[in-house]
Amino acid sequence: MRCLLHLRLVCFFILLFNTFFAPSLALAQRANGLVVSDSPLATKAGMEMLGRGGNAIDAAIATAYALAVVDQASSGIGGGGFMVIYETKDRRAHALDFRETAPEGVRKELYVKDGRPVPSLSLTGALAVAVPGEVAGLAQAHRRFGSMPMQVLMAPAIRLASNGFPLDATLRYAIDRQQGSIKKFPDLGRIYMPNDEVPAEGELIRQPELGETLKAIASQGANAFYQGWIADAIVETIKREGGVLNSEDLKNYRPVWREPLIGNYRQRTVISMPPPSSGGVAILQMLKVLEGYQLSDLAHNSATYLHLITEAMKHAFADRAQYLGDPDFVKTPVSLLTSKDYGRWIRGRISAAKTHPTRYYGLVNFKPELGGTTHFSVIDRFGNAVACTVSVNTRFGSKLLVPNTGIVLNNEMDDFAIHSTGNVYGLVGNEANSLQPRKRPLSSMSPTIILQGDRPEVVVGGAGGPRIISATLQTILNVLDYRMPVAKAVEAPRVHHQWLPDQLNVENDVAVETKRSLERRGHAVRERGVLGVVQAITNGQDGVKGAADPRKEERARSE
Ligand code: GLY
Repeated sequence: MRCLLHLRLVCFFILLFNTFFAPSLALAQRANGLVVSDSPLATKAGMEMLGRGGNAIDAAIATAYALAVVDQASSGIGGGGFMVIYETKDRRAHALDFRETAPEGVRKELYVKDGRPVPSLSLTGALAVAVPGEVAGLAQAHRRFGSMPMQVLMAPAIRLASNGFPLDATLRYAIDRQQGSIKKFPDLGRIYMPNDEVPAEGELIRQPELGETLKAIASQGANAFYQGWIADAIVETIKREGGVLNSEDLKNYRPVWREPLIGNYRQRTVISMPPPSSGGVAILQMLKVLEGYQLSDLAHNSATYLHLITEAMKHAFADRAQYLGDPDFVKTPVSLLTSKDYGRWIRGRISAAKTHPTRYYGLVNFKPELGGTTHFSVIDRFGNAVACTVSVNTRFGSKLLVPNTGIVLNNEMDDFAIHSTGNVYGLVGNEANSLQPRKRPLSSMSPTIILQGDRPEVVVGGAGGPRIISATLQTILNVLDYRMPVAKAVEAPRVHHQWLPDQLNVENDVAVETKRSLERRGHAVRERGVLGVVQAITNGQDGVKGAADPRKEERARSE
């Protein structure tokens, strides 16, 4: 089942031609490079640019804009993201932060009523919206690395918005799950439930207003979004709905080039996203711990293996909660957390036979010597690579669709540690990720590129809140330690532990005896359907191969 669904999702062009025994054409497509996203239409947009001679950044921009139309539940121009780039010519890595920022007028008290925290306020409606970064981020990537005109790159997205696209199972599932909220927000309802009911799979979704918005951005640049009629429409909607984001917030938004996080694992170079992503730090920290074990001697997904990686996750997520936040506001001990010494110290605290209470985990115990999002991966014929994760946070973000623009606004404010009870993902935090004007909320998005020598060997990342971190980690281990082909590495059952709540989430396909064995070590095992959605490309002896996670579509079809 998974295999069949997987075939539907992975690189639309290549598989289509392979299916019809046209290997030479398939090879030509491969020779141009590869895009893997979780939408065949978005993949097609990116592949079109590679086929026309564009580079990985061109393809990434076309893919991101197409995703912003065909899956507004996960990402879009009302959201933001991170992009990690490896430029083969200069052998240089770059990390672009176009994460949303908190509006200037925001205060913690706005999320409290009658002395009580109201978690829904950072999730739905105008107070949930942080200043969107995607349009500025993609423009910035284009200015520095793009080789094709923006109008060409945005043309597929404009076509999809203006002419419409057939509703697929995953977007239909998102609409179905959000029916209640969509009905409360008539602007969103006009597009996604026009007759007050969930449209059937295959029905055409048309977004002419979004098409006009995209045309304005394509012809006038990012300023068309942050100033002028689009910005006015956003501000008017926010004001009408009781929010604080204003025109100055939009005008002042800037993406930031950050120093990429670079470490190593088993003779490879790992390049990932630094804070305000927590994903890169957590993944490097866990790899440093796990490097000390000969994982390939342990059976894949055996209880011993899953226990080890779970313990690494518990340490990493404890530190995430304690120390990580926007580096423009707080000092983040990144080099310590990702150091060899700290990894060794954590290994010394891991007991093979049992897990420990939550207070046992994290740097606080270290007396030094001393993780609605979507990810896509691209590799081009020059050897450039892009790992990009974009988000509006949970499905359809704040549920606010700005009239006349088609823009769905994010709800990334919920990624701040506003309430001690944790956010929608149960993630807790402290001062480091506290809510402050102009600050960027901590993210789990983990776009990652792994080099062998100078060659991008793995381009990977995922969606699913904190599960992005554990899912990306396990995919990396599956490829590098267990030598799995990329499709198998993405499909293999996963586990997730985020320190608090103290639960070991285990996908249903993990063997029953393994789950019992984990329980005997003291883990509170909870069975889960889907733990993250990963898009990965590998570039090894067998050439460039990609895999889009079948989980997203599988979940949509099975529920
Ligand atoms: N909004 C999900 C994340 O950034 O982690």
